[in-house]
Amino acid sequence: MANIVILSSSVRNGRNSHRVSLFFKQFIESKGYGVPDILDLKELDFPLFNERLGKMANPEPEWVEFSNQINRADGVIIVTPEYNGGYPASLKNVIDFMYKEWHRKPMAIATVSDGRFGGTQVIQSLQFSLWKSGAWTVPARYHVSNVKETYDEKGIPSNPELTYRLADKFIDELMWCINAKQKMDDSGSK
Ligand SMILES: Cc1cc2nc3c(=O)[nH]c(=O)nc-3n(C[C@H](O)[C@H](O)[C@H](O)COP(=O)(O)O)c2cc1C
Repeated sequence: MANIVILSSSVRNGRNSHRVSLFFKQFIESKGYGVPDILDLKELDFPLFNERLGKMANPEPEWVEFSNQINRADGVIIVTPEYNGGYPASLKNVIDFMYKEWHRKPMAIATVSDGRFGGTQVIQSLQFSLWKSGAWTVPARYHVSNVKETYDEKGIPSNPELTYRLADKFIDELMWCINAKQKMDDSGSK
């Protein structure tokens, strides 16, 4: 079973995008896509890193564990809010903290807004940063508008039929990339 990390990026008090992370966890479990695990940046409460992990002499064990969790993941779903047309500093902090961990990592981006436009403006900056980090971002995207009306606090969607259809398309693409990478790894490709 694929090991799928859901990276929940908002650390804001009263955040709403975490609802979408909760939804994906339940969705992936119920559909049997893999074993999901939420890495919640609010809960992890990292400081602003002052160096990359690979260059640190004595990193905190929980920072190393975070890196290990990304390393072990077959795929990563980033759930990010849109803040002023970009993605939050909490997410940039962890992207820049690592390097080899992102290399050829199948990744999918879900953007969240409490307005009408679904956080789509995040894509330009986030996609570029992930590309620079060597990640394999899948072309499928998942945009959530009006998050407070479309998901409840437990991540239950108000329109399950539509939500499941869109989520299926999104996760399908990530699974294709995970499987393709697995085949390359199995073939001994460098
Ligand atoms: C600093 C800040 C900037 C924001 N900028 C935008 C924005 O540019 N576009 C947008 O649609 N929503 C914006 N929002 C609203 C978020 O979309 C909203 O808070 C949503 O619930 C996702 O973020 P959250 O998980 O932190 O709640 C902003 C919110 C904050 C706190």
